[in-house]
This record gives sequence, C-alpha cells and structure tokens, in this order.
Amino acid sequence: MSTRYAMPGPNEPCWCGSTRKYKQCHRAIDLAAPEDKYSEAQRIYAVNWRVTADAQSKRGDYDWMSRQLKKYGINRLLDIGCGSGHGILSMLSEFGSDLRVVAVDENPSCLSTTKDTLQKAGHAPALVSRIETQPTNFGYRSVYSAITEELPAPICLLQADVCSDPHLLSALQADGLFDAVTVWLNGVHMQRQDHEVVRDAGVESDYAHRLFVQNAAYELADKVLRSGGVLQVVDRGESLSNDALTEDILRSHREQAGPTTLDVIEVDHTPWSAPEGKRVPMVQTPGTSGRVANGDMALISVISVKS
Ligand SMILES: C[S@@+](CC[C@H](N)C(=O)[O-])C[C@H]1O[C@@H](n2cnc3c(N)ncnc32)[C@H](O)[C@@H]1O
Repeated sequence: MSTRYAMPGPNEPCWCGSTRKYKQCHRAIDLAAPEDKYSEAQRIYAVNWRVTADAQSKRGDYDWMSRQLKKYGINRLLDIGCGSGHGILSMLSEFGSDLRVVAVDENPSCLSTTKDTLQKAGHAPALVSRIETQPTNFGYRSVYSAITEELPAPICLLQADVCSDPHLLSALQADGLFDAVTVWLNGVHMQRQDHEVVRDAGVESDYAHRLFVQNAAYELADKVLRSGGVLQVVDRGESLSNDALTEDILRSHREQAGPTTLDVIEVDHTPWSAPEGKRVPMVQTPGTSGRVANGDMALISVISVKS
C-alpha cells in the first residue's frame, strides 16, 4: 500500500518505497493501459512470488508448515491464497495424494502457476476462473460469476475473493465440511489497494490488508470446518524468543477468533529469513503490541479448533 510520486527513471528506486528499482517494481503496471493494469499487477505478483516460494520450498519451509497439521488427520483441505501451489504440494505429500483440496485465490495468474506446479508433480488439478475486474473512476470493481456446478475433484483451484465473493460460502458448503483451512503467508499484488473491496473497508497498509484477509478467513473457517476441524494461519514475524512475545501473538489471534466459535489452541515457530532473490516485499506480523521485530525472524504457525 503506497503513496504515488512523480515517475522515476527505470534504474531509480520505485516511487512506492519498496526500495526496488522502478523497472523491477511498478514500471510495467504504470505503462499498461488502464484496463490491463490490474491483471498486469496480478501477473507480476505471480511471477515474483514463485521465486520466493521456490526458495522456501527447497529449504523445507512448507514441509514445516504442513507438519504442524499432520496430527489432526486431514482428508479435506481448504487452502486460502494458494500462491504458486508449493504449500498444497507439501500437504499432498504429508497427508496423502488422495487429499481433497479446494484452493482459493483471487489472482488468476497465481492459480495458473499453482496448476503448473501441481501438474509437474503428477497431480490433476482443475481450474475454475470466474472473476472479471474492470477499472472504474475510483479504482477497480469485480464481477463474480455464480458457481452453478459442483466443484471439480480431487483438486479444485477456484478463483474467488475470500473478502467479498457473494458465491464462495455456498459453493464450499455444497462441497461438504472441511478438516482444515490454511492461510499461509498472506500478501497481495500492487493494484489491490485501489480495489473497491479494499478501499470500502478502509484498509490502508499491507499489514491491515493481511488482517482483513485473515479475519475473513476466520469467519469463513467457522462456517466450513467440521467440529474439531482446524484453521492454521502462518505468518512471518519476530521469533518467539520469550513468553511475552508468544502471549502477544496468541492474544492477537484470540482477538481475530473473537467473533467466531474457533478457539486458539496452539502456536509454534521456526527460524525464517528472506530467501535470496526474494522479489515480493516481506510484511511482518506484529502482535497486539504493534512492536516491530528487530531480532531474528520466524515462521509463526497459529492453530485454532472449531468447537
Ligand atoms: C504471499 S502469497 C502466499 C501463497 C501461499 N499460501 C504460500 O504460502 O506460498 C498470498 C496469496 O494470497 C492471495 N490472496 C490475497 N488476498 C486474497 C483474497 N482476498 N482472496 C483470495 N486470495 C487472496 C494472493 O493472490 C496470493 O496468491
């Protein structure tokens, strides 16, 4: 989420404050026709996230995240914000290749990348594309097609916006209750701040956007999990090196779970650092204190159970 300034030269720092060169950041979006800017931002995000996700996958980050869920006996999974599919691949390997997967992402380029990742590993995902986003005088607006057919099995990659999609909940409920909902490393592309869904909600920072998506995920998980099913949220944040930091993270997730019947039951962490060649800016999650990490970073997994 950024404030705009005059256009820099290609090798100068981008106007958005990302510290990347302009040509590696907003330039292609700025040069695109108005009707293409949103999809161009989605495309760039998907290309860049795949670089980060490849590196995280190679060093075992996704395997650590999926291992946190193994003991809960997962046969039916809803993954919110699947990115490039590396997390799903790890969960298929951890929970068994007959796992029922519904993966949701608003970004069609991410869904295509996920399809490619899974197909290369020998899986047969089916893609359901259904969101049209157009520029308006004030930003962007989306039209969501109804979901009239059963979601394809065993792996459905569904284009849907977890924050605003009027057809998502009924389609998921028609599919049956889930054993687990995952929301890992939430982030979003550079034009999302101008979408009416985000503007109308008053979301003005990357961190606020993450909470916006996670809060929607808590509410959705409450409605689609079976009793005893679990929601796992994984973020990057300060290593939980003492009880106060751990309690702070737990408190912030208990606040998020407050309006639901989910109970926060478990937190764990493992060391994490930004991968080499990382191209998507890292947004860390502070606890309720708002304290910004100045020490070691970690992946932080928080698990809640549906009563
Ligand atoms: C940083 S990527 C993480 C991907 C994957 N979970 C991982 O750990 O590699 C975040 C993903 O969430 C998706 N996303 C963001 N907001 C969303 C929303 N409102 N509805 C659905 N997907 C969303 C983005 O398009 C992106 O693919």
